[in-house]
Amino acid sequence: MDYLKVQEPILPMLRSTEKVLARQLRSKVNLISELRQHTPVDKGKKIRATFFFLLAGMNRVDTEGLPQMAAAIEMLHLSSLVHDDIVDNSVWRRGKKTTNHHFGNYLSLLWGDFLFITSLRMISAQNRSRSMDMMLDASRQMIEGQILEFANNFNYRIHSRTYFDIIRKKTSSMFAGIARLAAQLNDKPARAAADFYRFGQDFGMIFQISDDLLDIFSDSAGKSRFQDLQEGKVTLPYILLLRHDALPLIRNFRRSGPQPLLERCRILGIKEQSLQIIDRYYKKCASFLESFPASAHRESMANLLEFIRYRDY
Ligand code: IPE
Ligand code: IPE
Ligand code: MG
Ligand code: MG
Ligand code: MG
Repeated sequence: MDYLKVQEPILPMLRSTEKVLARQLRSKVNLISELRQHTPVDKGKKIRATFFFLLAGMNRVDTEGLPQMAAAIEMLHLSSLVHDDIVDNSVWRRGKKTTNHHFGNYLSLLWGDFLFITSLRMISAQNRSRSMDMMLDASRQMIEGQILEFANNFNYRIHSRTYFDIIRKKTSSMFAGIARLAAQLNDKPARAAADFYRFGQDFGMIFQISDDLLDIFSDSAGKSRFQDLQEGKVTLPYILLLRHDALPLIRNFRRSGPQPLLERCRILGIKEQSLQIIDRYYKKCASFLESFPASAHRESMANLLEFIRYRDY
């Protein structure tokens, strides 16, 4: 599935979003410009903005003010990436060296804070309490998820329930909040807004499970491979592997390199098993979409769903 094709019906809105982002990141402090260059805004997929615009389009929301909201959402996401790269000791992000690698943790922490506060300021400037609530709730849950994940670092006995709880909080909460906001902006009744929320949650689960697969199987995500394993994040593919006495394989990773691990994944069909779990969420998402009348936005959302299920970046 061609991601650029997914974005076709909303390209002008995405361009406006990029302009708002660029404007908001200007500063007279030289070091901030340097930090900015290590946080390439244009290289991100802008999947959250895309998701928001497509849902708003399916819902016939008035487009006025939407790019400003989407820019704030992407800014919030960016701040979470900067902080996440500190926590995860990551070296690569969007195909560039991370800010923490280049500038150290102290400046990166401040830079992440700068982006975080800017995103909230952008929302507060719009004076819409529902979008502000969404940003605050999603941030709180995201941080909660990151802390729960930290608490389970190197926990090779982690229950899959805990893993799903982590990713629901750290990643799905944002997609769920965005989806509900798209419903609320059109004054949908509470029950419909709750259905949107669940759709966003399922979408987010697919997104994070596929991200956890990329960490093992993809060279094109613009991030280091096997970062999760090395940082002790026991993600779904590892949980499935560990059901087959794979602990020595994980522990010996540094010495033996990725080949034995990849070979065991192949034999056990770890990627396929993970994709089957993704499929459960996929089916729920697809049936939600079917309840809408056909439109270019709905079709693109169906294509976006297809893209995130099998993506390689
Ligand atoms: C990465 O998000 C963090 C996760 C929640 C998995 P994206 O894959 O959307 O990152 P960018 O914005 O495209 O770089
Ligand atoms: C991070 O998950 C999710 C966030 C809330 C930022 P990951 O740590 O897997 O994201 P990547 O792989 O570094 O993008
Ligand atoms: Mg990370
Ligand atoms: Mg992380
Ligand atoms: Mg990851």
